[in-house]
Amino acid sequence: MQKHITILAGDGIGKEVTQWGKRVLEAVAEVYGFQFSFEDQLLGHSAIEATGNPLPDATLTACKNADAILLGAVGHPMYDNDPSLKVRPEQGLLKLRKSLGLYANIRPIKIFDELLEASSIKPEILRGSDILFFRELTGGIYFGQPRERSENGLTARDTKIYSKYEVERIAHKAFKAAQTRRKIVHSVDKANVLESSRLWRETVQEVAKDYPDVELKHLFIDNAAMQLIRDPKQFDVVVTGNMFGDILTDEASQIAGSLGMLPSASVGDQVGLYEPIHGSAPDIAGQNIANPLATILSTALMLDIEFGQQEAANAIVNAVDELLKDGYRTGDIKDGNTPSNMILSTDQMGQKVIQKIKQTAIVTP
Ligand code: IPM
Ligand code: MG
Repeated sequence: MQKHITILAGDGIGKEVTQWGKRVLEAVAEVYGFQFSFEDQLLGHSAIEATGNPLPDATLTACKNADAILLGAVGHPMYDNDPSLKVRPEQGLLKLRKSLGLYANIRPIKIFDELLEASSIKPEILRGSDILFFRELTGGIYFGQPRERSENGLTARDTKIYSKYEVERIAHKAFKAAQTRRKIVHSVDKANVLESSRLWRETVQEVAKDYPDVELKHLFIDNAAMQLIRDPKQFDVVVTGNMFGDILTDEASQIAGSLGMLPSASVGDQVGLYEPIHGSAPDIAGQNIANPLATILSTALMLDIEFGQQEAANAIVNAVDELLKDGYRTGDIKDGNTPSNMILSTDQMGQKVIQKIKQTAIVTP
């Protein structure tokens, strides 16, 4: 297998973590005899600094020509503190998602048993949780027009808009996934208030008819946010719109112990994009303490979803699991019982994953 991968390190801790994603892919290539070529491109604040554009043409072209994309994170505090800035890092990511038609953002939330104590939620509530989120990624309030200021800047509006086909295509993906799992889909909306949510619910109900073996349940977003931490085990597949999905998956990160553990895949009709769901974490950038595991687990998703290499993907996930069992942690997933010598830097954790993958490959040829 020969594949070309475009790497968008982005901002903040993006460089530190994608570096390890790349090295893990190289290690896997060595073990399984794949050939990967890599190309670095700019996105976000780093792209604005270099070119004035958060998504330079060269980046978009390199993404379109790639077999897969690995992304770190975008964002920088200078924009957060100055809402008047018109050119912003996040615009690069949103335009990239839209231009590549990445309408389905898949976010698996699974607790590694070893991290039960790292979460702020009680272990007995978390144990056994395994949720697969399908977040709609190219529609809704993130993209709806008009979005503008009026009344001399004193009034602002965004538009939440969904068309039936946008709901249908993500719903089909969610139901198909549920068929391979526990066969429950929770669709999350706000149909008691929003017209776009009533279209969402009506459409999901229609799509459900094609999947009689899957049970469909509806939840309002406010209730879903509460149920998710009250009893996460009730969920199998969750399908929801862009902004609700953004919010719920950050919340759900506590079900996985830390935001630093969560990978994601954004797919559509062409090339897929793989990224950790954590942001650029400017507060810890450049310190070699960020958790690289979400990015490393994103490369596992890439191997599985984009390249159909389940065995290689499992090798990565198992390596991470083993390291956690051995007691290794990064700062974000340590708990009160973690000895300080087991708290690793970004580089140390990345190295360990690679060693583990290579060792396992040697003992089980
Ligand atoms: C995410 C992020 C992005 C989003 C930001 C960086 C634009 O929070 O991928 O969840 O809101 O989609
Ligand atoms: Mg988010």
